Formats: sequence, C-alpha cells, structure tokens
Amino acid sequence: MTDQPILLQLSSRPEPYPPHVRQRMEVDAKDIIARYPQPRSALLPLLHLVQAEDGYVGGTGIDFCADQLGLTGAEVTAVATFYSMYRRVPTGDYHVGVCTNTLCAVMGGDAIYEALQQHLGVKHGETTDDGTITLEHIECNAACDYAPVIMVNWEFFDNQTPESALAIADALRAGHRVRPTRGAPLCTFRETARILAGFPDDRPGALDGAPGAPTLAGLQCATTEEEAS
Ligand code: FES
Repeated sequence: MTDQPILLQLSSRPEPYPPHVRQRMEVDAKDIIARYPQPRSALLPLLHLVQAEDGYVGGTGIDFCADQLGLTGAEVTAVATFYSMYRRVPTGDYHVGVCTNTLCAVMGGDAIYEALQQHLGVKHGETTDDGTITLEHIECNAACDYAPVIMVNWEFFDNQTPESALAIADALRAGHRVRPTRGAPLCTFRETARILAGFPDDRPGALDGAPGAPTLAGLQCATTEEEAS
C-alpha cells in the first residue's frame, strides 16, 4: 500500500467561443430555439449551426449547444455522435459523399469511390491537404433512380462514372464553378450547414422539387398497365 496520490488524467475543458462569436451565435440560436415548443427539440439545427461556424462539431460547439438548451455535454455528444451528418473533425470546403449503398455500388459507386480515394490520396472521412475536399462513402440518398450518385455538400450529381467524379473533384480543387445535376448551385460546406440549421436558402432553384423522368418511370409503367387492363 502506498500513500502516493492517484492522479487521474482528465481532459481539459474546451475553449469557449470568443465573446463576439458567442454573441453572434446566441442570436442565431435564439431564433432557432423559438421555432420549437421545447428548447431541447432544437438540438439538431443547433448542431448544424455549430458546423456552420466551425466546419465540425467539437467540444466548444457541444458546450455551446448544452448551454443554450439546458442539456448536459454528454446528452449533446450522444446526439452529435449518433448522426453521421455531424462531423467530429474539421471538414473541407466540399464534402464529397459517394453513395456505396447496394444499388449505387453495383452501378459503379464502389468504382467511383475507389477512383476518388486513389486520385485524392485520402480515405473515408479524410480531407485533402489543401483543405478543399473531404471524402466519405455514404448510405443511400434516395436517388437510386439516378444511380450511381455522388453528393457534394448534399447536392446531387447523378449518373456518375469514375471519370466524371474525378473531373468534379479536380474542378472543385481548381476553384472552378461546378454545377450539380439538379437543384441549387453549390455553396461551401459551412454555408450548407447554415441552410440545414434552418436559415433561408436564397439560391436559385433551391426550392424546385419537381421529379425527373427516371423518378416517374415506375409510376408511368403502373399507369400504362392500369389503363391497358
Ligand atoms: S443506393 Fe445510392 S441513392 Fe440509393
């Protein structure tokens, strides 16, 4: 038995946001929280607000959310680590997600993902040295009718090939304008996060949700068969 004290290595508290940042974020947080009957219901958009500020959800952002909502850091962490849209490490300007779920995978998603990994020199969740692209393989994005798809900051790039995906990555890294196959023009990961937090999306085409021909093909077949019978 020794009377030496037992020292526990505890991790240090994260640095809080600087006062001017916190003040700005509190205004946004108040706006978000006011949309819900219970403050804790605002946690998901608040985590997006943190990603809009930091590019990921770290200790500072977790403490901020906990303070705003009267939750514990553990409660906020439990939610932030459950959903894969919240990143735990800094993210590049463009989050490139390759769908490798069943249908996209067999239609070429696996080959696209492999080609991007080789070309960019990064693996799942990693960011290129220039801070431009974070690559991830992602689950089904409900665009199977356009398989294989990749998503850049959650905008759709349909019917891709390894060649077209590499061209998109190169254009993004070169700072060229890249247009998604449908929907609104691309914005950065942090700007996207702010939109996901519930702030207005003023991009042209952002609210156009008309289904395309591949999406309606099944319905068309069913209607034709029904009319024929
Ligand atoms: S399997 Fe890729 S979008 Fe559904």
